[in-house]
Amino acid sequence: KIVPVIMAGGKGTRLWPLSRSASPKQFIQLIGDRTLFQKTLLRISNSDIYEAAVVVTNEEFRFLAAEQARKIGVGLSTIVLEPMARNTAAAVAAAAAVASHLFGEECIIHVLASDHEITVDQSYLEANSIARVEAANGKLVTFGITPTEPATGYGYIEVGAALSSGAYSVRRFVEKPAFQRALEMLSTGGFYWNSGMFMFSISTLLNELAEHAPEVLKATNLAVSKAVSDLDFVRLDGDAFGKCPDISIDYAIMEKTSRAVVVPSVFEWSDLGSWDSVWKASTHDKNDNVASANTTLTNTKSSLIMTHGAHLAVHGLEGVAVIASEDAVYVGRLRDSQDVGKVVRILASMP
Ligand code: GDD
Ligand code: MG
Repeated sequence: KIVPVIMAGGKGTRLWPLSRSASPKQFIQLIGDRTLFQKTLLRISNSDIYEAAVVVTNEEFRFLAAEQARKIGVGLSTIVLEPMARNTAAAVAAAAAVASHLFGEECIIHVLASDHEITVDQSYLEANSIARVEAANGKLVTFGITPTEPATGYGYIEVGAALSSGAYSVRRFVEKPAFQRALEMLSTGGFYWNSGMFMFSISTLLNELAEHAPEVLKATNLAVSKAVSDLDFVRLDGDAFGKCPDISIDYAIMEKTSRAVVVPSVFEWSDLGSWDSVWKASTHDKNDNVASANTTLTNTKSSLIMTHGAHLAVHGLEGVAVIASEDAVYVGRLRDSQDVGKVVRILASMP
């Protein structure tokens, strides 16, 4: 069976003010009545295919993660706790080391982001079964999404030769290109977006880490060997984990490896990275609005109006996001949603 490894320690600053450092986007309800973390768990709850998941997250989210899994009745193998954030290479390496103690080094892990909206359909299941064949072959499998715009927040995968499984070899992996480069790749063609999900065997991952990111491997191995575990949690050793380089798995491994393959994927996928993408991925009313409960809209079109606090009345606007949490309100044009991160940085630097 496949062991799901769920990365759930990110900050999601572009979804301010609903996504906050104390409850980042994977743990809040954005679309529908489940959080993105819960939807991720439900995607891998088929016990014919999957073992119970290994979740890796920051120490401060331990109750959120445990509580949200319990509420939907999904059991976990364990929750690996990071004493401080060291990015996704460290998170995956530590989780894989824990998983290898539980399930052995030859098992295949499916690394999942916890902040995506994905529709599970036949094409999703097919992509996964192709991935499984290649992962068993010692490959690092990525899932390619057809790009629709020159986004700079994604990794780009250039496809190479077709393989018999239905996957393709990867010619190049370019993480988060500059706008100009993204534009070029889009017009050249032959590139996919990296979905942020991966599949590989633990032993393949460990080999790649040893070759391309030995410092990450060393620090996380030590952090796991000195970890303290109880029933629900594995607490990584802080001194050891703190020495791990802060680098994402995309830069640390995917850009460097020669063992990557890509499964072109047509299932519905959205990285709910900004208010704009939340609006796009939600069901629109007849005025093209997406509005939560507790809102009143008049003469308003193509907007996203959401509140977790005060009642919102919006009149005569088009193409805007008005987002209210219990203690803060954001108003901006939907098409400027990528800039919310800048606002958050200004707020964070205020006394
Ligand atoms: N445990 C843990 N620790 N999880 C983390 C950490 C960390 O320090 N940092 C991020 N994560 C989690 C996030 O919660 C998310 O579920 C996942 O790891 C990916 O991190 P993001 O920070 O959201 O990455 P990204 O969106 O900028 O880029 C990645 O995803 C894109 C698709 O959405 C890359 O893989 C890109 O190549 C890809 O296109
Ligand atoms: Mg993301």
